[in-house]
Amino acid sequence: MDAWDAIRARRNVRRYTSTPIPDSDLDRILEAGWRSPSARNDQHWDFVLVTDHAALQDLSTVWMGAGHIAAAQAAIALVMPQPPDERTKLMDQYDLGQATMAMAIAATELGVGTGHSAIGDEDRARAILGVPDDHFVAYLLGLGYPADRPLRPIRKPNRRPFDEVVHRGRW
Ligand SMILES: Cc1cc2nc3c(=O)[nH]c(=O)nc-3n(C[C@H](O)[C@H](O)[C@H](O)COP(=O)(O)O)c2cc1C
Repeated sequence: MDAWDAIRARRNVRRYTSTPIPDSDLDRILEAGWRSPSARNDQHWDFVLVTDHAALQDLSTVWMGAGHIAAAQAAIALVMPQPPDERTKLMDQYDLGQATMAMAIAATELGVGTGHSAIGDEDRARAILGVPDDHFVAYLLGLGYPADRPLRPIRKPNRRPFDEVVHRGRW
């Protein structure tokens, strides 16, 4: 699958098969995050790869929208230091989005589905993952082969109309 097809095929996958993901594919997905751009090349992020099923079950309880992590074959926790100021906080959030998307596209190209989850219970997420107090778990990205349907370019994505979103030259 080329990059354009991977961009069009990526979607949130929340149901996964029980097929494990090869370590080499997990490493490639992580490398996509590692290669991502960040403001001033700060790279404040750390990524925690989780493949242990009991830990994945535990992680699925940290947020009402994290249920899909229970059946994932792996999850990547995106961890950031507590930001010292508002500007760093903004930049870090932007950087996290870029790293997440790079990993999602790399996964899609391998046929691996990804599903974001936010974090509700930050203390519990930190405890499960052994993350130090001066860092926070920003998001989880569940990984697994889709149990619903394969990843194929989506012809009509559920999006606001293209011409409403795109402005050319001026607003
Ligand atoms: C910042 C962010 C947080 C999200 N949090 C969750 C979440 O907690 N649980 C979940 O199931 N999906 C979560 N999603 C997935 C979105 O609901 C999903 O990306 C959106 O509905 C568009 O669908 P698509 O990814 O299939 O194109 C999150 C997405 C983003 C970008």
